[in-house]
Amino acid sequence: MPTIYFLRTFFVVMVFASILWLLSFYWLKFMENEPRRRKVSLALCRGQIARGSITPLENTRTFIIAPYFDRRFRNLTRVISIIHHKDVKELYCWFCCQSSGNISVIRAGIDVLGDRFGFPYSAANLLCEIPQNCNAQYMSIHWAKQGNFNQMPWFEIRNQETWNPSSEFTVCISPLFGNYNNVLQFIQSIEMYKILGVQEIMIYKTNCSQLLEKVLAYYINEGTVQTISWPITSFLNVSPASHFSKMKGDIGYYGQLTALNDCLYRNMLKSKFVLLNDIDEILLPKDFLNWTTMLRKIKASSPHAGIFLFENFVFPTSIFTSNSKYNISSWRVYPGVNILQHVYREVYQPWKYKPKKMMVSPFNVIQISVHRVLRGFGPQFHVSPDLAFFYHCRYVHPRDISQKLLVRDHTIWQFGPSLVKKVNQVVQKLFPQNGI
Ligand SMILES: *[C@@H]1O[C@H](CO)[C@@H](O)[C@H](O)[C@H]1NC(C)=O
Ligand SMILES: *[C@@H]1O[C@H](CO)[C@@H](O)[C@H](O)[C@H]1NC(C)=O
Ligand SMILES: *[C@@H]1O[C@H](CO)[C@@H](O)[C@H](O)[C@H]1NC(C)=O
Ligand SMILES: *[C@@H]1O[C@H](CO)[C@@H](O)[C@H](O)[C@H]1NC(C)=O
Ligand SMILES: *[C@@H]1O[C@H](CO)[C@@H](O)[C@H](O)[C@H]1NC(C)=O
Repeated sequence: MPTIYFLRTFFVVMVFASILWLLSFYWLKFMENEPRRRKVSLALCRGQIARGSITPLENTRTFIIAPYFDRRFRNLTRVISIIHHKDVKELYCWFCCQSSGNISVIRAGIDVLGDRFGFPYSAANLLCEIPQNCNAQYMSIHWAKQGNFNQMPWFEIRNQETWNPSSEFTVCISPLFGNYNNVLQFIQSIEMYKILGVQEIMIYKTNCSQLLEKVLAYYINEGTVQTISWPITSFLNVSPASHFSKMKGDIGYYGQLTALNDCLYRNMLKSKFVLLNDIDEILLPKDFLNWTTMLRKIKASSPHAGIFLFENFVFPTSIFTSNSKYNISSWRVYPGVNILQHVYREVYQPWKYKPKKMMVSPFNVIQISVHRVLRGFGPQFHVSPDLAFFYHCRYVHPRDISQKLLVRDHTIWQFGPSLVKKVNQVVQKLFPQNGI
């Protein structure tokens, strides 16, 4: 009896002990790996991870947006940045080599984008190849080869994962600024993009009204919109014009070119196609219900193209349709333009140069400008406005309209009934107090 009693006690104690041992083992492992892994890797290189989307560098007229790994060119990192292109001639990439904790310093190639529009600051790519045997997750940019890296901002090198697009179409919206408050047109644009087949809309945001913030929060929560804060006015004297000769400043149009290139690379591995336009522009297919069917038709005539250029037609907001069908009284409480009331556009003059806007497969593009691809691969296809065009609904000074011939074009009405329904649903949820 005593032996059996002893054995049983021994057995119970052993089971308890092993459970405790296992628990503590996993607990320690968990504590060691998960929360600390990230910190440790950067602790080797000391310093802070940059938090903002625009980071000024000390002692240089340079601003870093983000580094992107570019697998199309060996082990290249491409740092999207803004530099004073006359002053900045020498910069260095500092790579934090994860395994050894060593820092590897390489002189950066400075590739200023071709479109500068006369401004002293410009979008640029800083190019460095990650050295062999350096498994870098973070890097920094510095004006010297040597220095104290304790104070340096470190940037995560993005796009190191594999190509695995979760979206067919993503829209990149140029910075919103000047207390942007065109609420009705904003909601209409977003709902139109969704009707046409967009999965994600990336909006660079310098500044907008409180009311628009509320609308943004709704769409962020819905998962269709992502905003990227773009506080360029805190760092540079921006010109609201697109060319220096029109209005002086450090950089044109709220750094639009840099934002578009950043958006392109953010979506390089995530989206099959990226559209680059302003919030008052919608790519309207003429006889198709969405971009998927439109693109199928376009691709039939140019299967290898990855860059598509479309005409951009201005529909002045000061010219209304006499048809009252879309003069919707319940919408009048919202500030902004009701696009369904504007169906007169400038005539198409194919012999005249007019800047176009684009839909691109990001893999075909290295550097992009607002109306053209600066560097890319493969054929470009100019799409006939009979298939699709950018519907650009904006204010035009009456002086400039009188000189233009206008034609009626109600392609937008093809989507009228579904758009009205969708907008009503959104405003009902956002502003229930207003009723419908
Ligand atoms: C690229 O980096 C990987 C991993 O560090 C390395 O094995 C490879 O040799 C590098 N390739 C080139 C061309 O440097
Ligand atoms: C790290 O740097 C030290 C000193 O420069 C060098 O001796 C060592 O080989 C380097 N380690 C690696 C893994 O490159
Ligand atoms: C937005 O910028 C304008 C100047 O362009 C400024 O007057 C306004 O206060 C800013 N609004 C917000 C919400 O920051
Ligand atoms: C696009 O429209 C076609 C019919 O024209 C439809 O079959 C398809 O599901 C639509 N795709 C999207 C993404 O809405
Ligand atoms: C829309 O309807 C309101 C009220 O019926 C009217 O005052 C306004 O002039 C109409 N607007 C247009 C552009 O027809």
